[in-house]
Amino acid sequence: MQLRPSKDGEAVRLAGRDCMRETTGKGRFITLEGGEGAGKSTNLEYLRNALERAGIELLVTREPGGTLLGEKIRGLLLDPDNTAMSDDAEMLLMFAARAQHIHQLIMPALEQGTWVICDRFTDATYAYQGGGRGVDPRRIEVLEQWAQRGFQPDLTILFDLPVEIGLQRAGARGDLDRFEREQTAFFERVRNAYLDRAKHDPARFRTVDAGQDLIQVQQQLDTIIGELLMIAGCGD
Ligand SMILES: Nc1ncnc2c1ncn2[C@@H]1O[C@H](COP(=O)(O)OP(=O)(O)OP(=O)(O)O)[C@@H](O)[C@H]1O
Ligand SMILES: [Mg+2]
Repeated sequence: MQLRPSKDGEAVRLAGRDCMRETTGKGRFITLEGGEGAGKSTNLEYLRNALERAGIELLVTREPGGTLLGEKIRGLLLDPDNTAMSDDAEMLLMFAARAQHIHQLIMPALEQGTWVICDRFTDATYAYQGGGRGVDPRRIEVLEQWAQRGFQPDLTILFDLPVEIGLQRAGARGDLDRFEREQTAFFERVRNAYLDRAKHDPARFRTVDAGQDLIQVQQQLDTIIGELLMIAGCGD
């Protein structure tokens, strides 16, 4: 595992580090990923409370969105009336929102030492536009490199659960957005793409069995929170 405590100002993640910022003594970037209704938003609050109780200054944000411009782009992406949107246009809009998000919100917060928790990030592009829509991941990599220049989350929590359970949970919320209207096969591909990414980057990913009851999911999160508090220098 490449995560280390930062009490003595060490870099957090030594391999594959970004070249856009110095990590020493700066905020950590944590992303939450998973399919529809996996419990990202619900558990984000649990994570936020635990980290804030430990005195960590936090910024909570989401993708697509997070900035005024990004939220406008989110509106375009999720609007079910935009039926003619091409796969490439969808992907470019995702990265346009992300570029603004990194520039305006995420990077300035991290530079100040504020931790950032983001509900979805680039892994979602690999899962939805790559796995779901079938965009070649090598084309996504080009945009990732272009927009992020190596910038990556320090830790990514993947909420994994069977597609039908997630859709049932999400469906109970009411109106479906442009993605939620996709077929089950689409979400199976999304799930597999996420699992594949987690398998290939075990240093960054922590996978949670999100099909369990909320209490059990949060017990799994407690282990990850313990790890994060160690990184922050607040652990035992
Ligand atoms: N472990 C759980 N067991 C049962 N219900 C859950 C669990 N986790 C979350 N839920 C419920 O499932 C619904 C979807 O959860 P939530 O909105 O957190 O998912 P999400 O991953 O943010 O979804 P989306 O990707 O659509 O934003 C909510 O009504 C939430 O209360
Ligand atoms: Mg959510």
